[in-house]
Amino acid sequence: MTKMADSGSSVEIVEGCRLPVLRKNQEHEDEWPLAEILSVKEVSGRKLYYVHYIDFNKRLDEWVTADRLDMKKLQFPKKEAKTPTKNGLPGSRPSSPERELKRKVEPVPLVPQVPPAPPVASLPASTEASPAAVYPAARETNTFKTREDHDQISSLTTNGTARRLIPSQPGRKRKANCGPTDEMIKVLQYNKPQSASVFLPPPEDSQDSSDGIPSAPRMTGSLVSDRSHDDIVTRMKNIECIELGRHRLKPWYFSPYPQELTSLPILYLCEFCLKYLKSLKCLQRHLTKCNLRHPPGNEIYRKGTISFFEIDGRKNKNYSQNLCLLAKCFLDHKTLYYDTDPFLFYVMTEYDSKGFHIVGYFSKEKESTEDYNVACILTLPPYQRRGYGKLLIEFSECTKSMMSKWACYLKCYPIICPSGYELSKVEGKTGTPEKPLSDLGLLSYRSYWSQTILEILMDLKPDNGERPQITINEISEITSVKKEDVISTLQYLNLINYYKGQYILTLSEDIVDGHERAMQKRHTRIDPKCLHFTPKDWSKRGKW
Ligand code: ACO
Ligand code: ZN
Repeated sequence: MTKMADSGSSVEIVEGCRLPVLRKNQEHEDEWPLAEILSVKEVSGRKLYYVHYIDFNKRLDEWVTADRLDMKKLQFPKKEAKTPTKNGLPGSRPSSPERELKRKVEPVPLVPQVPPAPPVASLPASTEASPAAVYPAARETNTFKTREDHDQISSLTTNGTARRLIPSQPGRKRKANCGPTDEMIKVLQYNKPQSASVFLPPPEDSQDSSDGIPSAPRMTGSLVSDRSHDDIVTRMKNIECIELGRHRLKPWYFSPYPQELTSLPILYLCEFCLKYLKSLKCLQRHLTKCNLRHPPGNEIYRKGTISFFEIDGRKNKNYSQNLCLLAKCFLDHKTLYYDTDPFLFYVMTEYDSKGFHIVGYFSKEKESTEDYNVACILTLPPYQRRGYGKLLIEFSECTKSMMSKWACYLKCYPIICPSGYELSKVEGKTGTPEKPLSDLGLLSYRSYWSQTILEILMDLKPDNGERPQITINEISEITSVKKEDVISTLQYLNLINYYKGQYILTLSEDIVDGHERAMQKRHTRIDPKCLHFTPKDWSKRGKW
């Protein structure tokens, strides 16, 4: 039972209490979401409360003054809470003993946890798996013959976001499995030449169903499936501010920098080797000795001012560990391990006369049993929302499929291939980012996958006047996007329909127009010609 506080009496707010707290929403209006008190401290005789807004992303957690608390609705921690807070008081989260804290604040590298494999998006049962085709056809010449057919196709075409037309029929339940991704899919094309339609299976058990997929960053909830490593210490941001070159960064989450650095108003980082220093003076002294003007490792890509450096977590341990520490400030759901050896880091930089400035990076396991081609991905906040995230993703897609330069070329730029259909013959590796994705990670990958898949579908050409056909496997091979991600993206775009035993994807004019607009914004793309990269087969090496 939750005890309500008596607003008249003076009550002590302790860790674990919940109450509405005043904050500004995205429109800068006042709102009073429920929050939990994670910590209380006194500064110059004034109490400050560290609050976590329930159902909001942790990066919005903050210290607030008492006047922002709605004491009338104060709820005390539940009596039955089993795990004590660090003050020994009951709280909603497990705490860590001080020795745990000491161990945690060692500067350890960040590499991701390996979560259980996510539920796999499914395809129809094999009885319905006979190949279907993707046919381009003019609106007037569609193959729907009956009035009923016509109504159905009308509702497909008039609805900007095409929806499933045929309700599940009794006895015809398309059970979730990962079966016939070789099933051909029909594409309908209307008057507008680019406006094609494709048909596909609606997986039922996918975790990525279009329901609940955010179109803006998810301000609510945590995407973390396993937070057993989380405690009252690591739940709180511990670094106030980081100076990195000409940028000041405000961390979003806890990062295990040494404890003595957490009380500083500003932590200084060398922007080239990422070494952390406690004062500007120390940084300046360091800069007289540090010769780096770019990340270590090999520069494997350069076009214009954008470069990528490949860094071996074993050969450049210090740099990799420092990068992980910095990245952890903005990544909430990754577990810390000490060992960077099994990882490669791809750091993207922007060049000017002073050097190669880090913009973002992604890491990947040298060998992934799960087909993960990205472990962590990050664009540093000053560079976010400018297309760099997609550039990082595009580059990661490119490196994973680079069995040969040509294969990469085809995969990165499938539309330059004379016939889109032939691309399906290209052998290559598909991969997927490690799950769970963060809210922003999901938005970015969704957007990237949508654009990549739509590029393929819209480029399908009629085959002898017939509608083009394509299978999920082919889409996956052409784009290097894993099957499950292809399916979830098609669901997210709401393109999947089932009609007369066939799965159909409909590309409405809205979808096509939206895609064209989005592609115009993607002015910076990875140019495979600028890549100088020989993939290593790590499995054939005795040791990383
Ligand atoms: N609000 C709304 N949409 C957003 C936002 C945002 N704040 N940020 C990204 N998006 C979406 C947009 O849809 C955008 O697509 P659009 O151009 O079609 O609108 C898409 O994401 C990509 O935008 P970019 O500018 O290319 O990406 P950005 O450079 O901002 O980087 C990233 C995205 C890497 C996820 C960045 O937000 C980040 O570093 N976040 C913190 C770390 C993180 O969460 N990483 C992913 C973890 S999952 C993993 O590591 C496998
Ligand atoms: Zn340095």
